[in-house]
Amino acid sequence: MWHRVFCFPYLNCSSSRSVNSEEKLRFASMASYTPKNILITGAAGFIASHVANRLIRTYPDYKIVVLDKLDYCSNLKNLNPSKNSPNFKFVKGDIASADLVNYLLITEGIDTIMHFAAQTHVDNSFGNSFEFTKNNIYGTHVLLEACKVTGQIRRFIHVSTDEVYGETDEDALVGNHEASQLLPTNPYSATKAGAEMLVMAYGRSYGLPVITTRGNNVYGPNQFPEKLIPKFILLAMRGKELPIHGDGSNVRSYLYCEDVAEAFEVILHKGEVGHVYNIGTKKERRVNDVARDVCNLFNIDPEASIKFVENRPFNDQRYFLDDEKLKKLGWSERTTWEEGLKKTMEWYTENPEWWGDVSGALLPHPRMLMMPGGRHFDGSEENAQAAAASLSENQSQNHMVVPSPRSNGVQKPSLKFLIYGKTGWIGGLLGKLCEKQGIAYEYGKGRLEDRASLLQDMASVKPTHVFNSAGVTGRPNVDWCESHKTETIRANVAGTLTLADVCREHGLLMMNFATGCIFEYDEKHTEGSGIGFKEEDTPNFTGSFYSKTKAMVEELLKEFDNVCTLRVRMPISSDLSNPRNFITKISRYNKVVNIPNSMTVLDELLPISIEMAKRDLRGIWNFTNPGVVSHNEILEMYRDYINPEFKWANFNLEEQAKVIVAPRSNNEMDASKLKKEFPELLSIKESLIKYAFEPNKTT
Ligand SMILES: NC(=O)c1ccc[n+]([C@@H]2O[C@H](COP(=O)([O-])OP(=O)(O)OC[C@H]3O[C@@H](n4cnc5c(N)ncnc54)[C@H](O)[C@@H]3O)[C@@H](O)[C@H]2O)c1
Repeated sequence: MWHRVFCFPYLNCSSSRSVNSEEKLRFASMASYTPKNILITGAAGFIASHVANRLIRTYPDYKIVVLDKLDYCSNLKNLNPSKNSPNFKFVKGDIASADLVNYLLITEGIDTIMHFAAQTHVDNSFGNSFEFTKNNIYGTHVLLEACKVTGQIRRFIHVSTDEVYGETDEDALVGNHEASQLLPTNPYSATKAGAEMLVMAYGRSYGLPVITTRGNNVYGPNQFPEKLIPKFILLAMRGKELPIHGDGSNVRSYLYCEDVAEAFEVILHKGEVGHVYNIGTKKERRVNDVARDVCNLFNIDPEASIKFVENRPFNDQRYFLDDEKLKKLGWSERTTWEEGLKKTMEWYTENPEWWGDVSGALLPHPRMLMMPGGRHFDGSEENAQAAAASLSENQSQNHMVVPSPRSNGVQKPSLKFLIYGKTGWIGGLLGKLCEKQGIAYEYGKGRLEDRASLLQDMASVKPTHVFNSAGVTGRPNVDWCESHKTETIRANVAGTLTLADVCREHGLLMMNFATGCIFEYDEKHTEGSGIGFKEEDTPNFTGSFYSKTKAMVEELLKEFDNVCTLRVRMPISSDLSNPRNFITKISRYNKVVNIPNSMTVLDELLPISIEMAKRDLRGIWNFTNPGVVSHNEILEMYRDYINPEFKWANFNLEEQAKVIVAPRSNNEMDASKLKKEFPELLSIKESLIKYAFEPNKTT
């Protein structure tokens, strides 16, 4: 039976009072809860792995079932200390799967849930925050509903964060106590606060025996290196600079993971139903000091190693907690900062390969790189064996249940890109980006239209993804294609289709750089109307032979479900000396037309194409920045940022037609599909300024 009597400290809390002797007596005599079968969610992640390992080690009578979807930040090795224990079971799965959760609660006779699973990285939440809503709010809701339906849960410990309180004033002497108002400031903390509301409501409406925790920052072994401390340690180990967001004056409170695991042990046994507990420390540290302490541990010069980078969209100055209430249950922090940081540093230096290739996570702003669908557990032999072994053993207690992956049963190791179009502009930039992001890549040696040579490339490179930026666009411009039709067909049609087919045979995603120059303004999409062509629209511009072949091949590629078609238009980059750059082109023409168009800023969008590959996105995508910009608007920016003396002349379409062979398309593409997937995508004008004009500014 669930307890129905509730004290809701959200509404009325006495936690900041000092402990009097009467209260002490009450805490000492507080009945202790003894769980039987505990479901811990998210325990292949950081904190919950320490909690699970600790409970399994200390309480052989408790059965611990771990549910984790093995997201990019998780690692089965985090559970190594428990994997052979008879009271441990691992299940790979999503908390958002109601069937799975109901099944587990019933078949495992779960009476206690410790709910840690979440998307946890604030930086990522500034990107695709819908993932945070899905996992943190909807996922929690599914768990709660399963508790309601099965009616057997005696404790639901919900793990929340100090960030739900929002920023604490710099000069505040008293920290947030458990009854303080929740004022989250970023999408991550907003979803955590949202989840808390549901937990509270299920407590109130259905008498679910809930306890909520709100913790300060945690650090220590097993933490995915997107977070500050392991990131600094790994960068210092590699002799790289430590990037600090903003000026580094932000203050954070850090607790060592083992102390936090102990706090959960105390709350599990002594926590009062209906209560909230802060898990905090009064010791605070500026981000600058954390970086300096890491430098000192590695004997490196902080002045030379610390680099200040652009701040997050919002970076709370401080999260300060009142930690008295949990202390009254008998918990206190044991590990000093110096001790904890040293232990953490030693662990990362002893286990440099724990996370495999994490170069993407070590970038100053890694949110574009590490989103779900990216890396999973590291694919080491040990993990693969654990996964395979689990399937045959799933009736016993000490095993891991990992459903076989979709492909061929082998987890893919880190990324390896095969890129076609080495000598092309986009192909060249893609290679440089891979180098910057630490992604292994090779350029294809084969010709696209020569199937045997492509097969050879597949065999020797063994790629995880293929990027096709090869094809003919015509030099110096598309007019060339009008007089070289068979060459154009060979590369753009036969070649592209052959590569798509070879990729399909090998179960590989092909990221195909296509064009948006297959549309022109028409009555339904008039110039200036703001109504752009959508992904599903049929091409209406085949005026040039180049566009004709591109439209044909796009139509045929629809039959290949392994292809992601990226419709690029009038590409622009920060390299103003490149003659293919649209800015460079029009600034060198004698006369230009003046028509608004959708365009692609490569500096912003090529990293997105890599992220799209990681997210396994397929189908057709308008690959342009949202909105349109006219020739004159670009040239005005050119004049304002680059050359104040710059002058140009316009001509109309009829006059233009006299100096070109093939007609050119002008259009607006609807980029809302891309914007929805990447909400931080800049409009064309913002992107032009940020990526092309500001960095080249001479005025
Ligand atoms: N790390 C901190 O400093 C800190 C501080 C306060 C509170 N918290 C909270 O503690 C909890 C754990 O944090 P962490 O740092 O250990 O996180 P983490 O990112 O290391 O691990 C999260 C785990 O949850 C799993 N997961 C995510 N979504 C899932 C889903 N839908 N179904 C199943 N599994 C899923 C992931 O695979 C991963 O193993 C989170 O709820 C977080 O909000 C963390």
